[in-house]
Amino acid sequence: MPVDLDNPEPLSWKNATGDADTMLQNLQANILKGHIRDHLHILLLQFGDGPEVPAEARGFLARLAQLVKSAKTQLEELEEHRRSRTQGTPYVGVGLTKAGYDRLGLSDRAPSNEAFQRGMRAESTRDKLGDPEIAQWETWYQDEIHAVVLVGDEGPVPADTRLQEIEALLSGSIRVVGRERGRALHDADGRGIEHFGYVDGRSQPVFLSEELDQERRLTDGVSVWDPTQPLGRVLVADPAALNSTTDFGSYFVLRKLEQNVRAFREAEEELANALKLVNSDRERAGAMLVGRFKDGTPLALQGGAGAHSPVMNDFTYASDGVADKCPFQAHIRKTNPRGSGHFESPEGERRHLMARRGQTYGERVNGDLPEGGVGLLFMAFNSDLNDQFEFTQANWANNDGFPDHGDEPAPGLDQVIGQGERPPAAWPRVWGEPEGQEAPAARQAVTMKGGEYFFMPSLPFLRGL
Ligand code: HEM
Repeated sequence: MPVDLDNPEPLSWKNATGDADTMLQNLQANILKGHIRDHLHILLLQFGDGPEVPAEARGFLARLAQLVKSAKTQLEELEEHRRSRTQGTPYVGVGLTKAGYDRLGLSDRAPSNEAFQRGMRAESTRDKLGDPEIAQWETWYQDEIHAVVLVGDEGPVPADTRLQEIEALLSGSIRVVGRERGRALHDADGRGIEHFGYVDGRSQPVFLSEELDQERRLTDGVSVWDPTQPLGRVLVADPAALNSTTDFGSYFVLRKLEQNVRAFREAEEELANALKLVNSDRERAGAMLVGRFKDGTPLALQGGAGAHSPVMNDFTYASDGVADKCPFQAHIRKTNPRGSGHFESPEGERRHLMARRGQTYGERVNGDLPEGGVGLLFMAFNSDLNDQFEFTQANWANNDGFPDHGDEPAPGLDQVIGQGERPPAAWPRVWGEPEGQEAPAARQAVTMKGGEYFFMPSLPFLRGL
């Protein structure tokens, strides 16, 4: 049976047979389900342009393929870890840019997505996304990049050791032009957080039935918000592979997003002051920028932090149509309106969601409020970069008129990632009461420092190079 990318029923990896099972063996890890990567190395590679390069680069990728983890291995290792606490192996993933396919002499077999072909450095991309001039990017993103290698593990030692093995495979014409080092941050309860201090990575598309089952059994459930997405929202047939029924890949977005922690903290304070919030209600200011309290409690559900653990995700904005609980401009409401966007059908709206696999970077000293040098390595898997990542950033986050709810003022930009002029917005002064007040938007505290679009190809393609 061919793999049905449109099937709304999630795939059971444990019961997968035939093409579906082969697909899981041939697909890279971390796409269908996030791989543990508390310690993450990212290598950005450039292939030379001499006549020997296509053969050398192909040889390198074919050797690297032996270390690249499959989706099937990831899922089996995780299951084994649950049973016996056996540690899994490090994650290794690899992606190629359009220019990378060209250097391999494979231009005609490169994936066809328009945004992928254009790349993140293109002027048209930067115009569309509101990104800064390339001259302001981290130097290694300013020039053409051909490939990315991700190496991640729970511990630093296995990640470092695997990185060294990979570096030993590099040859003269393949150069490391940039490196990133991701390090997970955790709150006092061990939950993953980002640098502004908020729990991150909770709301994700679910592609596997075993994952859905866990959501049902171990969290607040799936009765209101259905997190499932068909495989076709993350997988595409690998155009360079031989077997289009079993060999799949995914488009990978990498963006280095620097966070000015001090500016964000000041924005939280300024909003709390403007709305005259007092005592513990002042925490609501930050929650109105993000859409969740620091501990992950959704603002749509509660006016204060402290919802039960694990972090809740079974909610929509149905009972908050006028946004007197969670503002329209809150980050998570902008980037997933959960049916309240009124711009297209709830089903159409869901199509823009993507599998986020971000990782924090940068060192922190206890209690400091850095203005730079720390942030989020935003990573996400897409089957359509235009319709998922780019749509989210351009049509929702940067669009002050979304969602169009007929009232003045317009909702304003996404208060975390919106790029562009930020007009004042309406904010609920009292949680759940229709007593809105206009106040300045939060100053932009996230700066894009470079990135690129990659395609993470199937393992048979890599092995056969
Ligand atoms: C430094 C930059 C960013 C920070 C600090 C940040 C922070 C957060 C936090 C704290 C959450 C809540 C946790 C969760 O629901 O999983 C979240 C969710 C989310 N973020 Fe971001 N994020 C950033 C960049 C981005 C970008 C660039 C995008 C896409 C263009 C994005 C899309 C999303 C989406 C889709 C969700 C889930 C919303 C939901 O389903 O309710 N984020 N982010």
